[in-house]
Amino acid sequence: MSYSALSHLDCPRCGTRHAADVVQGTCPCGSPLLARYDLGEVRTSPRDIAGRPPDLWRYHELLPVRAARHVVSLGEGMTPLLALPRLGRALGVPNLLMKDESLIPTGTFKARGAAVGISRAAELGVRAIAMPTNGNAGAAWAAYAARAGLRCLIVMPAAAPAVTRAECAAAGAELYLVDGLIGDAGKLIAAAVAQRPGYQDTSTLREPYRIEGKKTMGLEIAEQLGWRLPGVIVYPTGGGVGIIGIYKALRELLELGWVSGDLPRLVAVQSTGCAPIVRAFRAGATASEPWPDPKTVAFGITVPNALGDFLILEALYATGGTAVAVTDEALLADQGAVARLEGSFICPEGAACVSAVRELRGSGWLAESDEVVVLNTGTGLIYPDSVPARAPVLPPSGSIP
Ligand SMILES: Cc1ncc(COP(=O)(O)O)c(C=O)c1O
Ligand SMILES: [Zn+2]
Repeated sequence: MSYSALSHLDCPRCGTRHAADVVQGTCPCGSPLLARYDLGEVRTSPRDIAGRPPDLWRYHELLPVRAARHVVSLGEGMTPLLALPRLGRALGVPNLLMKDESLIPTGTFKARGAAVGISRAAELGVRAIAMPTNGNAGAAWAAYAARAGLRCLIVMPAAAPAVTRAECAAAGAELYLVDGLIGDAGKLIAAAVAQRPGYQDTSTLREPYRIEGKKTMGLEIAEQLGWRLPGVIVYPTGGGVGIIGIYKALRELLELGWVSGDLPRLVAVQSTGCAPIVRAFRAGATASEPWPDPKTVAFGITVPNALGDFLILEALYATGGTAVAVTDEALLADQGAVARLEGSFICPEGAACVSAVRELRGSGWLAESDEVVVLNTGTGLIYPDSVPARAPVLPPSGSIP
């Protein structure tokens, strides 16, 4: 059995089949491309997987990298699936779990997409990558590019988390800030790539393999539950790579026969300050309209116009899921609640999922008996200013009241 069962790339919009072993971007029709595998050829079993090292490469047959020697890793994957009993009871959802991506290189789940995307790019001979980012993805891709010896060009909004700038600079990336949004960064990157032969545009869903890294969150949730699926998965949705990836992963597991039964209902969480997917879902639409003037403290989900909108919406409709928008006020309060009740300092995007659970339980969409997995996509340490920390300053000769 080969290391990867990768077969080809498929266009989910027009159905065209594309070769996988050359550098590819989007389909000529404009759609992202999805990797397909010869799942019928996979002889590995969950029991074999259990004996492998605890990182995302344990699923290598379902990943696109053809040879083990091309894997570029910082030890990413197999993050904890934590029970949240005290928060769960407070929310009326006692079977509440959190897939905690704060314990991963660079501090966000973006490391998964970067590890697989960079490994595959390097395997296909790419020597330089370029991408726009809301910060966290840039930090991760810069780190893995450095480890792979690839050049890396990053453009991010000036308002992106400051530490992600430092991470890009530390890893030796060529970094620019734009006084605008991720879409403006994307235009600058597209123009630069057109002028720079040899640079691959690795923007969200403009290359096919970042999603393959992110889908491992879905594989891990299933494995960590003993090859069983939860009732509901709640995901903070920006470009949507994570939720599309999880949906793809779970369908692949069903096809392999490693899990059975209904797929979890998938929930896309956005901010009331940028909710194009929620608006489209409520209208029953199959594509979204760009969101004017997007703004939220959950910076990673400030994506007004996602290339994969139709894939996100398909995942919601097909699983009987839903889409919810929460306010910054609510998610900041829930970031505090998670830290106080469970000890975990999560990122605002992850906290948005907790607020969504609160809302969905309140409306009755979630039942007390539901087993619910929320994705915390990164550590709160990236956003030190999201929590006020006022402490009295004492003189050395002072005393504690
Ligand atoms: C912490 C965090 N959570 C969630 C997201 C949204 O990611 P996706 O593209 O998978 O929707 C991002 C994207 O920047 C992020 O940084
Ligand atoms: Zn197409």
